[in-house]
Amino acid sequence: MSDSGRRDQLVQSQYEAYPYPERKPADEKKRLIVGSPSQLAEINHYVFGGRRDLSKPLSVLVAGGGTGDGAIMLAQQMTDVSVPGEVVHLDQSEHSQAIAEERAKIRGLTNIRFVRGSLLDVAEIAPGPWDYIDCCGVLHHLEDPNAGLAALTNVLAPDGGIGVMVYGALGRIGVYHVQEMMGVLAPPGECDDQDRVATTRRLIENLPPTAWINRNRLVSDHQDGGDPGLYDIFLHARDRAYRVPEVIDLVASAGLRLVTFLEPYRYDPLYLVRDPQLKKTLAALDPLARAAFAELFLGNQKMHVFYAVRADNSRSPPNPDSPAAIPTLIGLTAEQAAQQMPAGGKISVATEGHKLYMLMPPLARAIAALCDGQRDLAAIHGAIQAKRADLDYDAFKSQFDKFYGVMNAINRMVLRLPVG
Ligand SMILES: C[S@@+](CC[C@H](N)C(=O)[O-])C[C@H]1O[C@@H](n2cnc3c(N)ncnc32)[C@H](O)[C@@H]1O
Repeated sequence: MSDSGRRDQLVQSQYEAYPYPERKPADEKKRLIVGSPSQLAEINHYVFGGRRDLSKPLSVLVAGGGTGDGAIMLAQQMTDVSVPGEVVHLDQSEHSQAIAEERAKIRGLTNIRFVRGSLLDVAEIAPGPWDYIDCCGVLHHLEDPNAGLAALTNVLAPDGGIGVMVYGALGRIGVYHVQEMMGVLAPPGECDDQDRVATTRRLIENLPPTAWINRNRLVSDHQDGGDPGLYDIFLHARDRAYRVPEVIDLVASAGLRLVTFLEPYRYDPLYLVRDPQLKKTLAALDPLARAAFAELFLGNQKMHVFYAVRADNSRSPPNPDSPAAIPTLIGLTAEQAAQQMPAGGKISVATEGHKLYMLMPPLARAIAALCDGQRDLAAIHGAIQAKRADLDYDAFKSQFDKFYGVMNAINRMVLRLPVG
């Protein structure tokens, strides 16, 4: 068998032995795991220009759905707001799929279907066309990620979109050093999995503070105690990580166009760099060149999460210029957002060891409290004006733009537009 075929088998058997991420179906009774990509509000904003008619069926493919996080989240969000359609969970691991299936059952979700097989065969086993495809943490485990993304693009509806996560090279510095050492100490196929896990733990305990994995405090996934986490990070039969320009090439190779990275501020040095002279030079760059610079500047992207559409799809995300735009908070309620908002001044934003402050307008708290996902900008202005008669729409709008600029950049807010 070729080395590539052997590694394919190892990847497959790894996820049978160690479904990842490790999930206990019973936990569904306590909480819903949410994250990006693939939140319904994000999909509407970044893929459908905010104008998706949510009363029409949405067809979703979760390619390499694993233990179910993305499929469960989206199927639940669709159920909560009565979006018809189905979510198909495709994976080649029977064990991972059984966990996802049990999670769906506990939640009583009836809009998920399970298909077993490789995403490389998607045209035969789940031909679509799909309005939306999620592929989170999978492409970087394929022999040819470009072929994987091309296979998915082939079954994407003409106006559909894809949400992807691939590993980031700079934030994962040290991981590949440990993988290389494990290739020497316990090569795959030569010792059993439990021995390899035990050997990895011995190695980690012996590593000096100078080893890159100990210098890179961002990588801590292996410290949660579970074998699946340790196996996935240090013993994977095949994984690679991407720099931003490589992500851009991957997307282009499949005939796609990158819409955004998440969170947007982490990919734009204009939010990150303070020095005005440096900023001036950076402002002249196109957004993708700025994203590549931001990755070097921050150095902390362990993953790249992005949305993409077909290259010939010219639709862009909505902006708040219409009074009929409806701001939608992501991951927090209007009440929670208002509590976190200063009445003017700065908010602190922290991700992966990096912290910065962003300026909010004086009306931020009042605006946040009214962003319930139902009111449009005209209604939010009306509610504030009831207490502040002197506040005309233009004055409100200039404060809303500042508020939205920050909230969208940190991926806490997107927009929805009226349909039709
Ligand atoms: C790291 S897990 C990610 C799971 C899930 N997407 C998530 O984000 O939680 C990778 C998953 O991809 C699946 N996988 C790997 N190669 C695949 C392929 N060629 N076709 C379908 N699934 C694949 C594995 O079985 C595993 O469940």
